[in-house]
Amino acid sequence: MHRTVGMLRDRRFMSTKCHQDDLHEPEFDESFRQQFEELLKWRRDVRSFRSDPVDARLVEHLICLASLAPSVGYSQPWRFVLVESDGCRESVRANFEHCNREALNLYSGEKARLYASLKLAGLRDAPVQLAIFLSQNTDHGSGLGRITMPETLEYSAVLAVHSLWLAARTYGLGLGWVSILDPVKVNRGLNVPANWKLIAYLCIGYPEEDNSSPELLRRGWEATLPVRQVVVKR
Ligand SMILES: Cc1cc2nc3c(=O)[nH]c(=O)nc-3n(C[C@H](O)[C@H](O)[C@H](O)COP(=O)(O)O)c2cc1C
Repeated sequence: MHRTVGMLRDRRFMSTKCHQDDLHEPEFDESFRQQFEELLKWRRDVRSFRSDPVDARLVEHLICLASLAPSVGYSQPWRFVLVESDGCRESVRANFEHCNREALNLYSGEKARLYASLKLAGLRDAPVQLAIFLSQNTDHGSGLGRITMPETLEYSAVLAVHSLWLAARTYGLGLGWVSILDPVKVNRGLNVPANWKLIAYLCIGYPEEDNSSPELLRRGWEATLPVRQVVVKR
């Protein structure tokens, strides 16, 4: 059904350790902080990819780095599915096309015209497609931290996605998150257990172009909220 990827051996992708037993405490200096800030500003959601292939070992390395994300009770509830077969990819594409048409119908006038003009997934050209699921019944973590807030299990998987997103960018890769999908059909199409909850379907590859601002901002779909508008003091 799904195969477990082996550990990486290639030194090109070993600059960042995947394991937490590194004894040398790193020092994050000002230059690192500046670069990290650049990384946050240039992360971006990418929907148009070049056809250049992505080294499979790099993909494994990114999954390894994503697995360093925090998780409630150390539950590590994320499950990664590398979607490689034409049949599986086609089922996700058809799923997206259907859901995107339905979403378009919810808008009218200028907003509908703009929505129809947006490219909201790179499913046709992304060389790597990765689905991230939540194993909802995991015993890992023995329930610690999620008795009062069970949704923290989902937050944990989302954090793995964000870690992967940032890590991919450091290798010049772009990532696009596709959520315009019927999750039940994704489970069926990828033949994964019904109790795995779809968290993210990711398109990954080398971007057609880099940007420091969101495409939906540039295309006039939505404006940036000033930080002062989203902070309250009590
Ligand atoms: C949970 C989640 C789901 C998303 N789903 C989609 C999607 O289906 N299609 C799309 O084009 N972008 C999707 N995005 C990307 C957002 O549109 C994007 O993050 C936002 O416009 C800000 O742009 P930026 O990521 O470039 O900063 C999603 C992002 C998140 C966090």
